[in-house]
Amino acid sequence: MKILVTGGAGFIGSNFVYYMLEKHPDYDIVCIDALTYAGNLSTLKTALENPKFKFVKGSIADRELVFELFENEKFDIVVNFAAESHVDRSIENPEIFLKTNILGTQVLMDACRKYGIQRYHQVSTDEVYGDLPLDRPDLFFTEETPIHTSSPYSASKASADLLVMAYHRTFGLPVTISRCSNNYGPYHFPEKLIPLMIANALNDKPLPVYGKGENVRDWLYVEDHCSAIDLIIHNGRVGEVYNIGGHNEMANIDVVKLVLKELGKSEELITYVTDRAGHDRRYAIDPTKIHSELGWLPATKFADGIKKTVQWYLDNKSWWEEIISGEYQNYYEKMYSNR
Ligand code: NAD
Ligand code: TYD
Repeated sequence: MKILVTGGAGFIGSNFVYYMLEKHPDYDIVCIDALTYAGNLSTLKTALENPKFKFVKGSIADRELVFELFENEKFDIVVNFAAESHVDRSIENPEIFLKTNILGTQVLMDACRKYGIQRYHQVSTDEVYGDLPLDRPDLFFTEETPIHTSSPYSASKASADLLVMAYHRTFGLPVTISRCSNNYGPYHFPEKLIPLMIANALNDKPLPVYGKGENVRDWLYVEDHCSAIDLIIHNGRVGEVYNIGGHNEMANIDVVKLVLKELGKSEELITYVTDRAGHDRRYAIDPTKIHSELGWLPATKFADGIKKTVQWYLDNKSWWEEIISGEYQNYYEKMYSNR
């Protein structure tokens, strides 16, 4: 079996590469990644020592390169993680989100049609469903929830999902889509909530909480996302969408306080800043379908996962310190200095 993993130098993609190399040592894994600001080849250092793994630098939107890769490699399965993934950046500059997340997906599917594959899997997000009210804890996103997006990021992901379904219906492409809730764990880029709060707390910098910190996210340990995708690409039904989540909703402020507690740092570091424009209030996944059809259940409880994650950031300071000392400084200054 030969699998193309796109965006494998990013957070979830790299965790998926390591998960698959360990779980299926006989598989060949090829990763294509453009190494944008969010991609980091050092994350794949150990994988690069494995003869079953190969890395190709390039964009999924580069049709010539992608077609050449498909022609040479003859993939069985394609798992598309490659994306611009940060909501705040999509508010600043939507265009690259449309190019990578929509047009890049189209190029990959065109290559799948031309060269033939057993499965194209699109890694989507629960954000395509929009948000839920804070005062209705009885409501959850199911696969039937209408698409109703809020940010340029979620609109681009939803557009890609629609295109994936269109390629299935019109061209018979064997596709699946997964829509997962917020992930956390190793190699999470320190512009996202949990790693940003860990890094700032360790540097005794203010912890910028948007609005009142009341917004709710449904957190899943990244390895559980990887195990779900592994099940879907092998046993999931073609043409289907699977929601992935572990019923772990938390208000942002509670997550931030927990991180501070784990690090033994003061809550005085918390700073409330101007809210995100169009800020989604609550995400909450109903994972009944993937559980009942594929037997998937998350293995890591949040209390354990957050401990492991904090420890990983303590043990791997050079990984994130290198990131926040570079170009990221300019981003941070631009996004947070006037909030
Ligand atoms: P990330 O930003 O950490 O990584 C994205 C990777 O894609 C990077 O390595 C980047 O270099 C690469 N990339 C960007 N543009 C590319 C292009 N044109 N061609 C090839 N590679 C390109 O993102 P992530 O958090 O790992 O998310 C991965 C996927 O999972 C995304 O599709 C995202 O929408 C989805 N997702 C993320 C979460 C989450 O909580 N992070 C939750 C649900 C779904
Ligand atoms: P984020 O990690 O950007 O993921 P998403 O917006 O895709 O869910 O943000 C998670 C939540 O944390 C979201 O409600 C916004 C909030 N947040 C802050 O309060 N402060 C921050 O500095 C960041 C990056 C996010």
